[in-house]
Amino acid sequence: MAREKSVMAYSGGLDTSVCVKWIQDEKDMDVVAVTGEVGQEHNGLEAVKQRALETGAIDAYVLDLREEFANDYLTVALAANSLYENKYPLLSALSRPLISKKLVEIAHEVGATTIVHGCTGKGNDQVRFETSIKVLDPSLKIIAPVREWDLKTRDQEMDWAEKHGIEVPTTKASPYSIDDNMWGRAIECGVLEDPWNEPPADIWTMTVDPEKAPDEAQYVEITFEQGVPVAIDGEKVSMAEAVFKMNEIAGKHGYGRLDLIEDRLVGMKSRECYECPGSLSLITAHKALETLCLERKTLSLKLNLEQEWAQLVYDGCWFSPAKAAIDAFIKNTQTCVTGTVRLKFYKGTCTVVGSKSDYSLYNYSLATYGEEDRFDQKLSKGFIDLHGLQLTTWSENRHEKHLSEIEELA
Ligand code: ARG
Repeated sequence: MAREKSVMAYSGGLDTSVCVKWIQDEKDMDVVAVTGEVGQEHNGLEAVKQRALETGAIDAYVLDLREEFANDYLTVALAANSLYENKYPLLSALSRPLISKKLVEIAHEVGATTIVHGCTGKGNDQVRFETSIKVLDPSLKIIAPVREWDLKTRDQEMDWAEKHGIEVPTTKASPYSIDDNMWGRAIECGVLEDPWNEPPADIWTMTVDPEKAPDEAQYVEITFEQGVPVAIDGEKVSMAEAVFKMNEIAGKHGYGRLDLIEDRLVGMKSRECYECPGSLSLITAHKALETLCLERKTLSLKLNLEQEWAQLVYDGCWFSPAKAAIDAFIKNTQTCVTGTVRLKFYKGTCTVVGSKSDYSLYNYSLATYGEEDRFDQKLSKGFIDLHGLQLTTWSENRHEKHLSEIEELA
């Protein structure tokens, strides 16, 4: 009788390699390995596929998801200026729903009953994979071997791998846990687990040390159409190209490093370092254009909803009615977010130094103190009388009675 089939999110690292064998041995299931290319650093994904097959996977897929990730996930994240806890641009949280979607599709294609992932039981990614899979197909079973097995350290895993004839990576293992894609790179564990330790220089690969960045500033013009970047310095780009290009430019100038204490969904605080040169510079430019093109109430509503959006996505609710509803609002706000922003990169900084748009609500003749001023300053008196009417009434009443409440305010 044929064995039950499982589909596994496979990276080719030690964890997922052990998972492939473990599922066959412990769960008596066949494994189909799936690796997604989302703009991460790698030395060839064909080799990853081969490794999956050598470890006993009955089939292995490598999917190039870069365009889909950029067009269907990153454009939405950019429109939402998405920063969890106001700082982290959600890179891992954005790739998980897309990978989950592919795992479910392939499970259907090959007739698998189960999806396997290599996440630990302490992180957010397990929540994101499983919540997404449950929404997309609640009938699929999910197994997370790392949560089940008793291999606590990397050495124990290596021993297990050796005993079971799995070829372990021979290169010296990084002491860090890393997840990356075109939206940035997350680095945790090792010496970073003590928040008092300054991040060592060797954790960074996408950004140069700001102290060693070029002495000359670089200006970059990013043109947006309806909230999506379409040109850089006048040259047409796709979303994916815009992200890769900005990673390169901002990274060269040492911009985009973050060192955060972050609140995980499963409860603990963790120390996380990130480098996000492209995403943070695109978000900076996009936000600037919005301040030019959106009127005040839309901006303030959007700011509140952006926080909610980032929280939902961080918490693994990419596929949720709440997020879909916020997306509809955000999409509506982007119709006139069209124009160009000029950024200046210099030794670890990214500054907005110019913005322009055909939909700009900045009105020179209203703002200027010069000759062309057409703002009627006399109107402000009546405006302030009405704006302050309730407070004036309150104050008059208290003055008549007792002063103390007013003195407390001063
Ligand atoms: N803390 C981040 C998040 O939850 C990044 C997790 C990345 N995973 C890793 N293995 N470093 O989105």
